[in-house]
Amino acid sequence: MNLELTGKVALVTGGSKGIGRATALRFAEEGATVIVCARGKEALEETAALARKIEGARIAAVTADLTKLDDIRRVARRCVEEFGRIDILVNNAGSARPGDFQKISDDDWHADFELKFFGYVRMAREVMPVMQAQRGGAIVNVIGTGGLRPSAGYMVGGAANAALNHFTKSLADEGAKHRVRVVGVNPGPILTERLRLFSERAAHGRNLEEVYARMTPLGRPGEAGEVADLIAFLASPRAAFIHGANVTIDGGANPGLIG
Ligand SMILES: NC(=O)c1ccc[n+]([C@@H]2O[C@H](COP(=O)([O-])OP(=O)(O)OC[C@H]3O[C@@H](n4cnc5c(N)ncnc54)[C@H](OP(=O)(O)O)[C@@H]3O)[C@@H](O)[C@H]2O)c1
Repeated sequence: MNLELTGKVALVTGGSKGIGRATALRFAEEGATVIVCARGKEALEETAALARKIEGARIAAVTADLTKLDDIRRVARRCVEEFGRIDILVNNAGSARPGDFQKISDDDWHADFELKFFGYVRMAREVMPVMQAQRGGAIVNVIGTGGLRPSAGYMVGGAANAALNHFTKSLADEGAKHRVRVVGVNPGPILTERLRLFSERAAHGRNLEEVYARMTPLGRPGEAGEVADLIAFLASPRAAFIHGANVTIDGGANPGLIG
């Protein structure tokens, strides 16, 4: 299937590692121009170097801390200044700590929401007028199944994800007025650096391969490239009638009727 992404301009937050990097590379393979942002310069440059191995790829890498409004504005501005438009926004930079409810302070709650919830809201607010002026665009929010499956051990991330599922639907209602499609993606366990670190901490000396095998009914965690494939499709004109949906990709781990 031709995803018809050639010539589109895609902004991927947290595009230096994991799901974000895989998504940036997938867009580049599909002929889109890509701009990635994250805090760490080295991983960003590695991603850009990988993309440049793809024939004809155009990529820009910008260091930014997306807990800061000024940085968010600078990234969106840079994309328009350098590439003239923003066709696709993938809100992906995020992380929230697991832990014991009574040990997570107000400051911890605020810090995690600042990136995983407000980072998405603020970037969408910057990008929406650009898409509105273009009369079209697509926003994909990378959320997480923690929002569909409340648990004591992942309360902050779960609450931020639940809020983002809601935000995705309400932003879709707003976006429809401007021909901006909005969708959410809820990954289950995906084997990135982040999951590896969480798993090592939770393994308590058990074999990591056994821990991974128990994560989903399919007997393995997902791969970043599998999520990137879904994001590329959802962001593409081939998904033109998918709007306001939150799509789960979790190897069947979520037992609920929704997602
Ligand atoms: N992997 C999973 O199992 C899983 C499951 C459900 C949901 N998700 C969600 O999927 C998204 C990507 O996860 P991942 O596993 O790919 O994570 P990852 O490998 O840890 O990558 C996170 C990316 O975000 C960037 N980032 C982190 N804090 C940032 C900040 N303050 N400002 C700008 N960039 C920042 C990181 O670069 P720097 O650190 O250099 O800034 C990196 O590029 C996250 O929103 C996560 O919650 C992941």
